[in-house]
Amino acid sequence: MTGSSTEQASHVFGCLHGMVRTAALYPPMHGQTVKAKQTLHEALTTYLSAHGRLVYGFVGDVLVADNRILPRESLLYRRFLALCQNERHIGSISFIAGVEPREIDALLEAVTNGAGDEPSSWASRKGLTHVLLRPPVQPEQQNTEAAARRAYYGSIETLRDIQATVRARSALAVEQIGTLRVFTSTILEQMLESPALVLRLASIKSYDEYTLYHSVNVAVISVGLGLVLGLPEALLREVAMAGMLHDVGKIAMPLEILQKPGPLDAQEWRIMRRHPLLGADLLSRLPGSSRLPMIVAFEHHLRLDTQGYPSVPAGWVQHPLSRLACVADVFDAMTSRRAYKKAIPRTDVRGYLRDEAGRTFDPRLVRVLELMLGQLDEETSEEGGDDGAHRINRA
Ligand SMILES: [Fe+2]
Ligand SMILES: [Fe+2]
Repeated sequence: MTGSSTEQASHVFGCLHGMVRTAALYPPMHGQTVKAKQTLHEALTTYLSAHGRLVYGFVGDVLVADNRILPRESLLYRRFLALCQNERHIGSISFIAGVEPREIDALLEAVTNGAGDEPSSWASRKGLTHVLLRPPVQPEQQNTEAAARRAYYGSIETLRDIQATVRARSALAVEQIGTLRVFTSTILEQMLESPALVLRLASIKSYDEYTLYHSVNVAVISVGLGLVLGLPEALLREVAMAGMLHDVGKIAMPLEILQKPGPLDAQEWRIMRRHPLLGADLLSRLPGSSRLPMIVAFEHHLRLDTQGYPSVPAGWVQHPLSRLACVADVFDAMTSRRAYKKAIPRTDVRGYLRDEAGRTFDPRLVRVLELMLGQLDEETSEEGGDDGAHRINRA
């Protein structure tokens, strides 16, 4: 689906939801109800004449249209998604070109009163051919990895949107962070089911959009570390969000510095080293948000011995979640290929982390990383070669 067809699918879903809400307020033959049904029918007809088919899937908190997550609508229609799945036993609605008004009536009836015990045979029982229903997918039937990957790429899209906002010097919207939360929660839920996803997800890299992919990978690795530590789910959620946003200040850095193919000069370094402060500042302006992502954005280059950057007053103690993000940050940065360095093999990265335990890193968290790597199937292949000389300077 293109961006505009996604918007159209969002619009059609809004009409569907509007019809159900209107029908709950007015009798079936009331002008408002009739109008709401017509509105949906027209929106659907327009969409289907261009695309032929439209499938909405409800997967827990997530609304999917033709295999694309609609993050904003997932939040907006959360209750409706839960109602469809839990009380009406509807997990997906498919529309095929040629939908007739009587099929809209039948759909409204199904969404209002349920579609019976077998939603899959609802259409044939009613003699319908252009609207089909399916029951909700049971958690064990869901493809954990596919759901996690969808949410991974959804996070990338959201971060791309956040990047555009930051680059336009506009304030971040609470809604953008809310969207990121939806994807983050989905990734976390899948990782709780299958912790081995850590390395499979974190091995997704992008050379061109390094910072965006790196941000999601840091979230994934941080959750992996948090799982080994046995952190409670609510805290894991914050850990994941902090990982997603730790480099939000970096996406405001000049592109010529971010994408420079060689080492940075002194002046460029001065600018680059401002990203923790800039990120914390951006996050501090978000009303009602957790303070943890802001703290992690500020402290992730500080080092355990506080000799990193930004400079802090004597006696400052790095927050435990910043220490965790720092290990995840360096691990992902070193195992990624960049314009100025190759990817470093995991074994060498582990050696470096061990060497720096107690200075840059919390020794306990280095052990946790070792434990995590030991526990997981190292099925993803090592990327690139070893140029050992490059370390963490641009994590
Ligand atoms: Fe950073
Ligand atoms: Fe980073």
